[in-house]
Amino acid sequence: MIKGKKILNILSLIIISTLIVGCGNSGSLKSKKEIRIGVTLYREDDVFISTISDNLEEIVKENESNYDFKIFLEFVDAKGSTLNQGNQIDKFINQDYDAICVNLVDRTAAATIIDKAKSADIPLIFFNREPVEEDMNRWNKVYYVGAQAEQSARLQADIVSEQWISNKELYDKNKDGIIQYVMLEGEPGHQDALIRTEYCIKSLNEKGIQLEKLADDSANWQSDQANSKMTQWIKEFGNNIEVVFSNNDVMALGAMYAINSNSDLIKKPIVVGIDGIKESMESIKAGEMTGTVISDANAQAEAIFDIAIDVAQGGSLENIGDMENGKYKKLPHTKVTIDNVDEYLK
Ligand code: BGC
Ligand code: CA
Repeated sequence: MIKGKKILNILSLIIISTLIVGCGNSGSLKSKKEIRIGVTLYREDDVFISTISDNLEEIVKENESNYDFKIFLEFVDAKGSTLNQGNQIDKFINQDYDAICVNLVDRTAAATIIDKAKSADIPLIFFNREPVEEDMNRWNKVYYVGAQAEQSARLQADIVSEQWISNKELYDKNKDGIIQYVMLEGEPGHQDALIRTEYCIKSLNEKGIQLEKLADDSANWQSDQANSKMTQWIKEFGNNIEVVFSNNDVMALGAMYAINSNSDLIKKPIVVGIDGIKESMESIKAGEMTGTVISDANAQAEAIFDIAIDVAQGGSLENIGDMENGKYKKLPHTKVTIDNVDEYLK
């Protein structure tokens, strides 16, 4: 009798668990043998973008065995051309991919892409280069993954104000109590460039710190352009430059290079970047760059992956936390200076 009851219990356990597993697989989710995700990058040689794509590749490798379907991920490089990118997206659509991740070449030109994907019913996950709001609202299967640009600017301002206040005799070179600065901006029109440029200065003003702009210009997120801009500014303003703000790390490193090559004309100013790439961590450790703000490429890649896998199966993002308006996922930042850089150099 007891034995019979036990078998019955085991049997009902099996039935219940089959039911639970069964529910998980059915519902609104399509069941597929393979999920194909296409990723088009505005420029593969952009250091930060390649960090995101490396992370994405790694995440797929690590997670593949958790799913009962294969994940096929294809990366293509638009090489800075909207025409290339349009063709790449057409190809993904014609081959009936399950989701397409787009790092836009031109963030103001998402409308055609969205309309095409909509007619083929293939969800789009934009990342790092944010479409304008009007375009984001063209269809409900359009998502965006990026960073919290205003927060990164405010953290950059925190690094500068802390250094400025505690080392004024070193950095206020002309002893007027005002920060004389130059600003290296990212690509014109890029949301991160616009917001970072505006809010780092705004935030310092709010802290009661006075600033005087000596020069600002775009170096298009690129190190060599930043190096030549900075070299020109050093020739023009010499040791009057007290702070170098840079919208990203590779430009800050370019500026650092110019400063080191012209050490007869300028004593080291405060130099701050954003992104937290390995080279900037090393530069901070070596006492060159003052600080950076990590834009978490791994967390951004994870969000892209989670959203893509879910929408590719027809899911509705129930398990993805902190989505703004059901469309936007913007990841937070962390600041890095000599005080905590060792944690990130491991
Ligand atoms: C990063 C830059 C990068 C750019 C590319 C920005 O968020 O900070 O380093 O070049 O995105 O779109
Ligand atoms: Ca000054």
